[in-house]
Amino acid sequence: MSTSESKPSQSLAALGVHSAEQVQSLFAEVRQQFDSQAGNVTDENSWKAFRDAWLARKSGVFTLVTDNWLKPASPDLKRSVGAALNELRKHVDSEIEAKRLSLAANAEGNAAAKDRVDLSLPGVIRPVGSPHLIRQVFQEIEDIFFSIGFSVAEGPEIETPYYNFEALNIPEHHPVRDDMDTFYLELPKGAPGPLLLRTHTSPVQIRTMEKRRPPIRVIIPGKVYRRDNPDATHSFMFHQIEGLAVDSSITFCDFTGTIDYFVKQFFGGNVKSRFRPSYFPFTEPSVEFDASCVFCGGSGTAGSGNTCSKCKGSGWIELFGAGMVDPTVYKFVGYDPKKVSGFAFGIGIDRLAMLKHGIDDIQVFFQNDVRFLRQFP
Ligand code: DAH
Repeated sequence: MSTSESKPSQSLAALGVHSAEQVQSLFAEVRQQFDSQAGNVTDENSWKAFRDAWLARKSGVFTLVTDNWLKPASPDLKRSVGAALNELRKHVDSEIEAKRLSLAANAEGNAAAKDRVDLSLPGVIRPVGSPHLIRQVFQEIEDIFFSIGFSVAEGPEIETPYYNFEALNIPEHHPVRDDMDTFYLELPKGAPGPLLLRTHTSPVQIRTMEKRRPPIRVIIPGKVYRRDNPDATHSFMFHQIEGLAVDSSITFCDFTGTIDYFVKQFFGGNVKSRFRPSYFPFTEPSVEFDASCVFCGGSGTAGSGNTCSKCKGSGWIELFGAGMVDPTVYKFVGYDPKKVSGFAFGIGIDRLAMLKHGIDDIQVFFQNDVRFLRQFP
C-alpha cells in the first residue's frame, strides 16, 4: 500500500518506467492495491475514506497519477499512460459505486433484521374475561325456566308511574309506594312526564299482557332502582327476574309446583321450598317463598353445633315474593278476570347469587375487584 501511495507521488522517470510494458505493469500494480483496499471496506466510514484516498481532488491517487505520471510523460509514453489511466479510472469508479450499493443494501438488511418479528417468542397473553357472576346467575335461572316453556320478555328501565305503580294496583297514595320511593327524572319543561327509574321488573308484566293474549309464560330479567343507601344487603341498583304465567285455568298448585321445581333446580334436589302468606297489591293471595337453609341443611344448627347464623336457627331462608295475579290487574290490560288466572313472582338475583355462593356483601358485585370476579370464571 505504501508503495502505491508513494509511487504516484514520484515521476515515471524516478520510478524507472520508460516503456509501454512498464506502464502496463505499473498500472496493474496500482489496480491490485486498489482491489485489496476495497476488500477492507466494511462500513460507510471506511468507504468514505477509501473513496477519498483514490478520488479526492487534492491528494487522491488519481490526482497524483495525473499530475506526476500523465502530465509530465514523454510523448511516446503519454498514450499508454493515458489509456491505462482511463481504464483504471473506469474500474475504480464502478467498484466504488458497487461497494456503496452493497453497503446500503447491507444496512437495510441489518435494519430489517433488527425489526424482524420473532415468531418463536411467546405471545402477549391477554386475560380473557368471563361473564359477571350476576350475569351467570341470570343465565342459570333463565335456563331453568326455559326448560319448562317460559321465554324472555323485556321492558324499559325508565318507566311511567302508570306501569310501575297504577296498573299494578298501587294507586297514588298507597302505602307500599313508600318502600319504592324512588328516582324521578328531571325532565325538560313541557315534556310529558313524570318518568322514573323502575323500582321492580313487575311493570313489564303489564307491558307484556297489553301486547299479548294468554297463554303467557314469560320471565323478565333486568335492572331495578331504589333510593336505598348502600350496605351489605342494599344497593340503589340491583337485579330481578320477574315471572308471569297466565292461562285459562292456572291453579295455585301449578304455581307452587313451578316454584318448587325452580328451587330444586337452582339450589339442589335436597332443598325444600315453602310459602308463607304475604302481601303485594298486584297478587291475591300473595306469598313469600322460603327455601330450607342451604347453609345448615335446614337443621338450624351450624357444623360447629352453634345456631346457624344464616337462617338464625329457623332452618329456612327467605327467597322472594310471589302470588296469584290479582284480578284487578287483568282489568288494566283488558283481560277478563273470570276467564283467566295465573301467577307471578319477583326473584332478586343478587340475593339468590349471594345465597348460592355464600357471599355476604352485595357491594362486591359492583366493585369490579378482579380478585372477586376471578373466583367465578
Ligand atoms: N315487585 C316486587 C318487588 O320488587 C316483587 C314481586 C312480588 C314480584 C310478588 C311479583 C310478585 O311478581 O308476584 O318487591
